[in-house]
Amino acid sequence: MSQLNVVILAAGKGTRMRSDLPKVLHPVAKKPMVGHVIECAQEIGADAIQIIYGHEPEKLKLALSHYLLTWHYQEEQLGTGHAVDHASPQIKDTDTVLILYGDVPLTRPETLKALLEAKKDTDLALLTVHLSNPQGYGRIVREGGSEHQPGRITGIVEQKDASPEQLLIQEANTGIMAVTGSKLKQWLAQVDNNNVQQEYYLTDIVGMAAQEGVAIGYVMATDEMEVAGANNRVQLAALERAYQTRQAEELMIKGATLLDPARVDVRGQVEIDNDVVIDVNVIFEGKVVLGKNVQIDSNCVIKNAVIHDGAHIKANSVIEDAVIGEGAQVGPFARIRPGSELKAGAAIGNFVEIKNTVMHEGAKAGHLSYLGDSEVGAAANIGAGTITCNYDGANKFKTIIGEHAFIGSNSSLVAPLTIGNYGTTGAGSTVTQDVSDHQLAVARSKQRNIDGWKRPSKNK
Ligand code: UD1
Ligand code: CA
Repeated sequence: MSQLNVVILAAGKGTRMRSDLPKVLHPVAKKPMVGHVIECAQEIGADAIQIIYGHEPEKLKLALSHYLLTWHYQEEQLGTGHAVDHASPQIKDTDTVLILYGDVPLTRPETLKALLEAKKDTDLALLTVHLSNPQGYGRIVREGGSEHQPGRITGIVEQKDASPEQLLIQEANTGIMAVTGSKLKQWLAQVDNNNVQQEYYLTDIVGMAAQEGVAIGYVMATDEMEVAGANNRVQLAALERAYQTRQAEELMIKGATLLDPARVDVRGQVEIDNDVVIDVNVIFEGKVVLGKNVQIDSNCVIKNAVIHDGAHIKANSVIEDAVIGEGAQVGPFARIRPGSELKAGAAIGNFVEIKNTVMHEGAKAGHLSYLGDSEVGAAANIGAGTITCNYDGANKFKTIIGEHAFIGSNSSLVAPLTIGNYGTTGAGSTVTQDVSDHQLAVARSKQRNIDGWKRPSKNK
């Protein structure tokens, strides 16, 4: 069985990015471009992945440390042929070698599978693309053929080496190709740099194959963005948009209503059930799961969260590493921090921050509160302005609030603290001692009313 050996070219400096970050680490949807390429290779079943790099090895290796890659250092960038040849020692004769580019992140796995299919019964297949303006690209040279039948591929000519007639060709080389290991090594050994750019062109192997009588297969990409690279941040932004358009379309196909598909960003994975409604300017990060009928209003950032059926996330809320229960309500202007969970029907209102806190069924914190390291019992009500004082500057402590508890407005709950079921605290109390079931705790100074009080007056 032929093994799939993927070679990713990533040695270019990326000068036009004007950045300290190597070009291929510039992100699309928060993931380095080359990460998308690697994951696509994995998805189509790569047995090995070779990466050719030239600059900033520490940054690259750190950013890509979670992938299994074989690294090849190309000290001088003498051309794409020279680059691929660095992987030759790792290429077995029987391998199918697939050549990809670290700065071309949006190629679909299906497209590459089609290319491998086109390569199956021959030694070389190219991914080409028809461009209305192919300026700068290598052109696919064909021979014979008719209006209805494209001729056989005889070579690729680079823009700078092309004749005026060849420059009229609109079928461009994407650079992506699949080739038999033994042939690749044999042909690369013959590539020279006798051309205008004095580079060792990978594309020269195409002419060699044709000379040998190899029937060169091809797949023509139908979506230009699948084969587009980024040399500067304008192109990077175009890739980001194209990627987000795809994500938005996928969400809609799966049953979400997006009030404006151009104003939702997915920087990770979103799994959804039917009839999810997402308003504008919502950002998803990491892994997010949205249940049936979940409603997310505008300007929310949701990261690594599970939101169960019928929950409603109101405008301007931020949720991270949290679980939102069935029919629960969050926001507007709420912040749900890591380790928090809202059980069914719980509600967190405006300007409420919770961290590492569980709100049991139907518990509510409607306004202006901070609940940290707490457990709030079912149907408990947390009055406006309640703060859990969970941190003494060194240690964190727990606050446990019982079922049906009623915490008066502006209570300071000094942890560690337990308030029993049906416990009550008076408004403005600073509660430092546990409160038993059904007790009322009042911990504030008594009110004094002073007669005839003269207010200070301003000096004239
Ligand atoms: C190449 C193709 C051209 C194709 C175009 C598509 C060749 C000779 N030409 O041209 O037919 O239309 O891509 O974009 O292959 N790289 C290295 N090491 C090198 C040289 C390049 O790693 O020594 C990497 C670059 O980082 C880049 C990629 O290979 O990601 C393409 O190199 P580049 O020089 O930009 O090729 P083009 O001139 O665009
Ligand atoms: Ca070049």
